[in-house]
Amino acid sequence: MSPSDESSSARPRLSIALTLGLVGLLLVMGSVVFVFRARAQEALAAQSAVPSRATDTLEQPIAFSHRVHTTANAIPCQLCHTYARRGPVAGIPSVQRCVQCHLTITPDAPEIARLMAFWEAREPIAWLRVHDLPDYVRFTHKRHVAAGVACETCHGDVARMDAAVQTAPLTMGWCVSCHQERSASIDCLTCHY
Ligand code: HEC
Ligand code: HEC
Ligand code: HEC
Ligand code: HEC
Ligand code: HEC
Repeated sequence: MSPSDESSSARPRLSIALTLGLVGLLLVMGSVVFVFRARAQEALAAQSAVPSRATDTLEQPIAFSHRVHTTANAIPCQLCHTYARRGPVAGIPSVQRCVQCHLTITPDAPEIARLMAFWEAREPIAWLRVHDLPDYVRFTHKRHVAAGVACETCHGDVARMDAAVQTAPLTMGWCVSCHQERSASIDCLTCHY
């Protein structure tokens, strides 16, 4: 048998093996997509039944009032939440930023005396988190701010709150329905690692 005969008889077998392999791969891919879809539908159904959470005011370490700063004194949100337009997190201001103003603004008020105690001890203020997505969710402020979505759309009327409270449900259905309205991506990997 010459080498050329051998390869010509092997070719049909090779293509059958390839076809079977391909069909198998498609079946596996199909069922992965199917399971993923089913899980997403379950997740959506489960979530529409869950009421919004964390709407109670938390007892923060200092009685900080958004209303006093933003409404009464017209300080813009992004003067304190500086990273909102630049990165994933909006950030909470450092003690230093508070002190820059309060060395001269109402330095004798009791809550400012507590602020200065943190400053002198070189200790950060342990603000309690209000919003907290699960770790498997990918979220970024930057893209939303760049697309012109206002802080209030997702956080409510913070300018009239004292301590911030959560007003939006932050469920998957909430995210996805705005993404659909605004023609933003609803690909699973947009929001999941
Ligand atoms: C599209 C909705 C949306 C918009 C618009 C938005 N946020 Fe957020 N924000 C969120 C979500 C969701 C979280 C929780 C993120 C997490 O847990 O990882 C959050 C968290 C925060 C936090 C907590 C600290 C942090 O960064 O995780 C601050 C402060 C904040 N947002 C301020 C702002 C400000 C100020 C604006 C406007 C400049 C803004 N946000 C716009 C949805 C939004
Ligand atoms: C850009 C300047 C500025 C920054 C930054 C700032 N504040 Fe203020 N703060 C003010 C002004 C103005 C008032 C209103 C003072 C008055 O009543 O006349 C105020 C009032 C207060 C009060 C009420 C004081 C009182 O009279 O009882 C507290 C508490 C306070 N701020 C805490 C903080 C904390 C904590 C931070 C940092 C997270 C901070 N502030 C950052 C300007 C600032
Ligand atoms: C003077 C500084 C300052 C300004 C101005 C300010 N914030 Fe805040 N913000 C804080 C501090 C301090 C906290 C932490 C205490 C709290 O949760 O209320 C906070 C908390 C928040 C949170 C909750 C963060 C979390 O833990 O999930 C949101 C949302 C928020 N701010 C949005 C806004 C928006 C929207 C504006 C403008 C309308 C604004 N902030 C203006 C200082 C500020
Ligand atoms: C009120 C409307 C709205 C809500 C609510 C919202 N988004 Fe978005 N999202 C947008 C818009 C608009 C864009 C920008 C799309 C673009 O830049 O083309 C975006 C973009 C994003 C991006 C970047 C997409 C990319 O292509 O890289 C991520 C990630 C994201 N959103 C996650 C979330 C998550 C997670 C939630 C819920 C916790 C959420 N979003 C809630 C409107 C919204
Ligand atoms: C626009 C953002 C966004 C997109 C797109 C998205 N998700 Fe989610 N998903 C979320 C958020 C936010 C949560 C967390 C909700 C919560 O904590 O209540 C979540 C939760 C989940 C959970 C957990 C549900 C539970 O109850 O434990 C699963 C599973 C899931 N998503 C699957 C998917 C699949 C599959 C897709 C694609 C078909 C998808 N997600 C697309 C934002 C998104």
